[in-house]
Amino acid sequence: MSGFFISIEGTDGSGKTTQIEMLEHYFKDRGFYVVCTREPGGNRISEKIREIIIDKENVGMTAVTEALLYAAARAQHVYSDIKPVLNDGGIVISDRFLDSSLVYQGYARGLGVKTIKDINKYAVADVEPDLTFFLRLTPADSLARKKNQKELDRMESEGEKFHRLVYDGYMRLCKINKERIKVIDASKSADKIHSEIVACIEKLLKEKGI
Ligand code: TMP
Repeated sequence: MSGFFISIEGTDGSGKTTQIEMLEHYFKDRGFYVVCTREPGGNRISEKIREIIIDKENVGMTAVTEALLYAAARAQHVYSDIKPVLNDGGIVISDRFLDSSLVYQGYARGLGVKTIKDINKYAVADVEPDLTFFLRLTPADSLARKKNQKELDRMESEGEKFHRLVYDGYMRLCKINKERIKVIDASKSADKIHSEIVACIEKLLKEKGI
């Protein structure tokens, strides 16, 4: 695979969507073949799985079911959307990837990181982001931003304790993967965040000769 894979991670309200749009323009303006996608989702099948996962009616979903559904959505996403672009030498920007499962299901739901890695072994098929940005927003700021949202889905409706665990999980994951995951202060302006992200990308692309 000759392409370049970037994933963007963050808690609810951290501004991932805005940053992905800005990055897409950045790459397109420079003539790169870039595809933006998201997890869970990115294609018809994975989007259907997403609907099941976030549906507020599915309150009784067990943590294992949830983890398997995210992995199933990911398997389809990797094979039908990510791998083909990387094989063509393109750039993939994904709103979330495996790190989300490690944090939300592994840490916050308490299934353990090893279990989540095992479950996802076939789904990711050796695909790993070259670079990941974690848009860091404190649980309090995240909650404040969510208050402006009209309706919360099943995952967003989880209590403060769960979202604190998600935040702690991300911090632990970032510590273990310092090389790959760049922590960005998401409380700054969108333009400032974009500049920081671009600076990291340009450094790495230069190193890789892209
Ligand atoms: P989004 O709102 O950022 O699109 O993500 C959907 C929700 O799914 C969000 O609450 C995070 C959660 N999630 C997991 O719990 N595990 C995963 O593997 C992924 C990709 C997302």
